[in-house]
Amino acid sequence: MPGESFFITTPIFYVNDVPHIGHAYTEVAADVLARWHRQRGDDTWSLTGTDEHGQKILRTATANGVGPKEWADRLVESAWKPLLDTVDIANDQYIRTTDPEHERGVQAFIQQLYDDGHIYEGIYEGYYCVGCEEYKTRDELIETKDGDYAGELVCAIHSRPVEVLKEKNYFFRMSDFQQELLNLYGSQPDFIQPESLRNEIISFVSQGLEDLSISRSTFDWGVKVPWDESHVIYVWFDALLNYVTAVGYGDPERSGPAGTGEFRRRWPAVHLVGKDIARFHAVIWPAMLMAAGLPVPQRVFGHGWLLVGGEKMSKSKLTGIAPQQITDVFGSDAFRYYFLRAITFGQDGSFSWEDLAARYQAELANGFGNLASRVIAMIARYRGSAFPEASVDVEIAELAARVTADADDAIGRLAIHEAIAHVWRLVDALNLYITEQEPWVLAKDEAQSARLDQVLATAAHGLGTLAVLLSPVMPKATAKLWTALGGEGAVQDVRLQHATEWKAQTTGSVQALEALFPRIEEQEAGAA
Ligand code: ME8
Ligand code: MG
Repeated sequence: MPGESFFITTPIFYVNDVPHIGHAYTEVAADVLARWHRQRGDDTWSLTGTDEHGQKILRTATANGVGPKEWADRLVESAWKPLLDTVDIANDQYIRTTDPEHERGVQAFIQQLYDDGHIYEGIYEGYYCVGCEEYKTRDELIETKDGDYAGELVCAIHSRPVEVLKEKNYFFRMSDFQQELLNLYGSQPDFIQPESLRNEIISFVSQGLEDLSISRSTFDWGVKVPWDESHVIYVWFDALLNYVTAVGYGDPERSGPAGTGEFRRRWPAVHLVGKDIARFHAVIWPAMLMAAGLPVPQRVFGHGWLLVGGEKMSKSKLTGIAPQQITDVFGSDAFRYYFLRAITFGQDGSFSWEDLAARYQAELANGFGNLASRVIAMIARYRGSAFPEASVDVEIAELAARVTADADDAIGRLAIHEAIAHVWRLVDALNLYITEQEPWVLAKDEAQSARLDQVLATAAHGLGTLAVLLSPVMPKATAKLWTALGGEGAVQDVRLQHATEWKAQTTGSVQALEALFPRIEEQEAGAA
């Protein structure tokens, strides 16, 4: 129902290195969902940001001869915030874990858990992967036979040796929450999506939960444990809390009395993450919230990986492709469309320049872009650019209403690829309609003038509906199309539910439209 709160988050990314298209993929998916909900009138909030504490960042900074805060500032300004422009993200908020308000919220949270008896002092003895910033069990490690680390235990994800720790830490009694977590997964079946991930998490938690070490004392780049400043808070415990500190948790003015404050208004969120970090979000995080007596997230959706040569694209393996390499050639709209259309949301997908170029040409340039140019050019030629006044053919009108409802339903299930596919039924139908109706033949016969008006009106009206429905996915192209059609106001202000009811301005005439998806020269695509 419109007006409901919709709070969507991305992971906050480590600033050890610059972003690649895997990070841009999560950003774009969250942004399409946020724009969609905003456009349907929901009380929407979208949050992204950066994860800046911990050993991984400290070591990277040290290796580069600067302090960790200076390093983080540099990467945030030069790489992570610019990413949002590169792929056209309209986030409402950007959080950094080094923000003082966040740090205060983290301390307030951990102090409450400590006061309520959920934290105790113990000894952690075991493995740690700095790449993952995660405590590992023996069966999560691989004993390498050859290469640089022959004979050592390496992390299965990073292929680098893990560290062996034995230190005094504070522990969170996570094991207390095993049954409550299982109850949550059982009673709220869409809490973890997709289904495959849900099954994996349920089986993991069913095997029993251990308590979690939540502090470190051998380095100091982190938020201090309030009752023992010789410890810093474990970077994941700190990072997960960004989702609530961002909307005012721990700040009396913003959390306010029940039902009134910003925190009450926004929380709980939908968390969009890569499946690599689903466990942190679907196990540790709800357990932390349960301990604090706060509502658990609304949903945790773990999307698949972008693969290169069959392996997860990653910063640490240097297989990353910079988003700008793609947007420089194809533009941000095509980037957004391609990754969300070509990959079933929730599954892995392989990126290839050939597939991108082929879909750009077939679906965007020939399918959608050409439809828009042709219809507008015909209105200019046959009707002196006056927006055709006639009723819309009923079959197209019905289809437009159906795809609007189907796409909205798919977005509600986070099936973004499916939503786009539904909208594309209208693109294809309009192309077929033009081919079959042959307006250029109608134009030669004065007796068919009324029919020509109707055909042009149907096509132009359908284009306006497409501009509205595709605006969350391709904000730039749809804004141009909307202007060319003489639509009123900004296209993103037209309610999605009313995508079929839009009207051109009464005084309006259509305006020439440059190619929405210009031809890409072979060399350009090849050089990228
Ligand atoms: O894990 N395919 O940060 P991170 C798809 N700071 N998505 C990918 C990807 C790929 N090949 N590679 C990365 C962290 N991602 C923590 C998160 S949240 C409280 C803390 C995306 O910089 C995907 O969203 O390692 C994945 O979950 C995230 O980047 C990991 O980013
Ligand atoms: Mg990572």
